[in-house]
Amino acid sequence: MKDWSRPEAWASIREDVANSTTLPPEAYTDPDYHAQERGAIFGKGWCGVAMVDEVPVGRVVVREIAGTSIIITRNDQGELRAYFNSCSHRGTELVEQDGEIGTVLRCPYHRWAFDLEGRLIATPLFEKDLVENFELDDFGLRSVCVGEFVNVVWVSLNSDVPDLTSWFGDLEERLAGYALERYAVRKTAAYTVEADWKLLTENFQEYYHLAWVHPELAKVSRVDDHYRFQGPGRYCGQTTTPVSAGENGEWTTLLNATGLSASDAESGRHIALFPNVMLTVLPNHTCTFLLEPLGVGRSREHISWSTPHDPSPLDLDRLVNFWALVNDQDIEICQKAQRGIDRGRFRGGRLSPRYEAPLHRFYNMLADRFEGLDRCPDGDSN
Ligand code: FES
Ligand SMILES: [Fe+2]
Repeated sequence: MKDWSRPEAWASIREDVANSTTLPPEAYTDPDYHAQERGAIFGKGWCGVAMVDEVPVGRVVVREIAGTSIIITRNDQGELRAYFNSCSHRGTELVEQDGEIGTVLRCPYHRWAFDLEGRLIATPLFEKDLVENFELDDFGLRSVCVGEFVNVVWVSLNSDVPDLTSWFGDLEERLAGYALERYAVRKTAAYTVEADWKLLTENFQEYYHLAWVHPELAKVSRVDDHYRFQGPGRYCGQTTTPVSAGENGEWTTLLNATGLSASDAESGRHIALFPNVMLTVLPNHTCTFLLEPLGVGRSREHISWSTPHDPSPLDLDRLVNFWALVNDQDIEICQKAQRGIDRGRFRGGRLSPRYEAPLHRFYNMLADRFEGLDRCPDGDSN
């Protein structure tokens, strides 16, 4: 079995972009690679798992990450809390699906109860006086690192990670003018895709395919209007400036957020947050994609559209339908990519430095995680 934590496995990725390669086909098709990736990427660093709006106070969501079930909720002060989904009595799964939680989490088996800070507060009929060396304090829920960034809830199974702000470098500052906390989710959708999650984010990171895969989008987001939007941080960013109205005004009908800078007010920011979140920020809405690997060559894409102002149902439908058209085209081409890599005896390819440099950055971030290097990549020098 190939050991992907060894630097030799990534030698061609470590070359300059002009001399580098794509990921090898095993990265999309090989169960051994997939298992190692699960540990190195999803088991050891921050991953986006839900939208902040999905977890108001009083609600709990259950997410699986690297084969581990996590429950996420908020305490009375509204701060996020995450725990392994297992009771400290005899291990039972505490929460089966998203729902209301109130202020106490009760195990379905023998009703041990935990408060929102994960403390064990009740053990009905347990007669703990008869149990030796037993303290409630020792049997709280085991917590998991959790935080929010760009309206996404992130968790890390490994507690030894930089905080989210450092993980993403200058991105917080770069997006500060949007005040994204004012945006609320207005619509969601989810798709199962017969393609590896990396193909979806790679596809998002390059506009090389724009004219051929998305003739409609190319009118709103012209190839020549794309620029890099890249500072230091674990993300790959690009901008479309200016964003134009398109034939039917799909992207410009909604009201802009107030107080935007001149640049933010005329741009679309396309940011792939490492590893599994894609975010497009426009002056009047955002579209967030959370990628969930389901297995080798399969993933689930969870999409949320958010706006700063309450949109009319008609405007929202028009916007979402336009995105759905573009997204269907992306899914179809990614599935073709998966099939070709899987069944066409693909041997690995080359990248266009002009159009595909973000993929090179992404591959290097992957390599860093596999090799255990805690490195925040540099930004553009200008
Ligand atoms: S396993 Fe949870 S209370 Fe017994
Ligand atoms: Fe696309």
